[in-house]
Amino acid sequence: MPNDTLTITDNRTGRQYDVPVSDDTIRAMDLRQIKVKDDDFGLMTYDPAFMNTAACRSAITFIDGERGILRYRGYPIEELADRASFLEVAYLLAEGELPNGEQLDKWTGDIRYHTYVHTNLIKFLGGFRYDAHPMGMLLGVVGALSTFYPDAKDLQNPENRYIQRVRLMAKLPTLAAFVFRHSRGLPYEFPRNDLDYIGNYVNMTFSIGGQHRPNPVLQRALEILLILHADHEQNCSTSAVRAVGSSGVDPFSAISAGIAALYGPLHGGANEAVLRMLDEIGDKKNIPAFIAKVKSGEGRLMGFGHRVYKSYDPRAKLIKRVADEVFEQTGLNPKLEIAVELERIALEDEYFIKRKLYPNVDFYSGLIYQAMGYPTEYFTVLFALGRMPGWLAQWEEMLQDKEQKIARPRQIYTGADQRAFVPIESR
Ligand code: CMC
Repeated sequence: MPNDTLTITDNRTGRQYDVPVSDDTIRAMDLRQIKVKDDDFGLMTYDPAFMNTAACRSAITFIDGERGILRYRGYPIEELADRASFLEVAYLLAEGELPNGEQLDKWTGDIRYHTYVHTNLIKFLGGFRYDAHPMGMLLGVVGALSTFYPDAKDLQNPENRYIQRVRLMAKLPTLAAFVFRHSRGLPYEFPRNDLDYIGNYVNMTFSIGGQHRPNPVLQRALEILLILHADHEQNCSTSAVRAVGSSGVDPFSAISAGIAALYGPLHGGANEAVLRMLDEIGDKKNIPAFIAKVKSGEGRLMGFGHRVYKSYDPRAKLIKRVADEVFEQTGLNPKLEIAVELERIALEDEYFIKRKLYPNVDFYSGLIYQAMGYPTEYFTVLFALGRMPGWLAQWEEMLQDKEQKIARPRQIYTGADQRAFVPIESR
């Protein structure tokens, strides 16, 4: 019979403690009993950036970073990308099972019913300068949605939470398209509920004078990209949604915190940063000098490396395939050549091999978005569109988890000890 405990000897006191181990994890709170003096606070763990701390139990997404495996609710990402629609995946993430026909009809119908946004939001958008960053606008308008739906504050009622999740799924494409059009000074195109989720979004984005000829290959490619981005367990933006949501705030505010986290160049903003990097490199002949700069600590190879994946990001593999299909339609993105060569050189370089740095989801996605007609600063909005189902599923799971409370890390205080106030004339 295995003894699932960890015995800790505190060499400061010579005392021993048996701490239960389950799921290869000990509970940080079990360390609190370890004290030198009775009035000590007790032992804590120190884990900046949560490198080795599980903050929740989750049944949504499984990642094996060493083997490059990603599954949503047990389904391999490769199969979902091949065979599912984005709304099926969103349902799967939220409900735990793939929908049957009737469930999918209801889910799709509920979302379709909520695609419009209050016209006051258009005035709100009008307040942004013409050159406002799309992610700054998106996080602002999504946060503003909370003021339109005060009923969203009632977190106790599961049906009410469902409506708010549907609203966020339904309105994000509308707002994302409005943000796109604001940047271009184009009139807003309203939702068309005869179109499917992706078709409606693309139409609201690109239609001119009510005219838009959809390209089914590009629409499916966009759908696959959204599926690949739909969830990624406890990443920075999802942790932000969970942490902010744990205060009991409405989901619009919590999701807007997630969008803010995604905006950063080390997270979703990396897809934008990759394109800027490829522009900076400019030509294949400049790659060795660029790599040398990265290795000397001057900047990073954007779109490379991952906290969890220590092998090829499975999403990046699939994205490379999508890129081929897209470029067949749009013609080759000239920067692809630089990206492919950059990847080849990096993967053979000792620096990247030793640190297990491989292309991540953001390395090739920007090239596809650009070929589809999206401007560089807009790429992360597409990431947000894809990540919404994951944020919502994780938010819902957090609220239903009896073990969760308001997120509130501890600190090790390193400041001054108590001291007396010094009047200004004596400073
Ligand atoms: N280029 C060059 N060196 C790198 C890179 C990179 N992209 N990423 C990590 N390193 C080095 C880093 O300098 C460190 O080296 P050393 O041990 O000599 O100090 C080592 O590898 C470990 O890096 P780390 O910063 O401790 O790793 P992390 O887990 O904290 O960071 C990361 C993960 C994704 C933030 C980082 O790899 C990075 O900055 N990548 C570039 C930005 C990027 O592509 N982000 C998108 C991530 S995937 C999608 C998403 O989350 O949105």
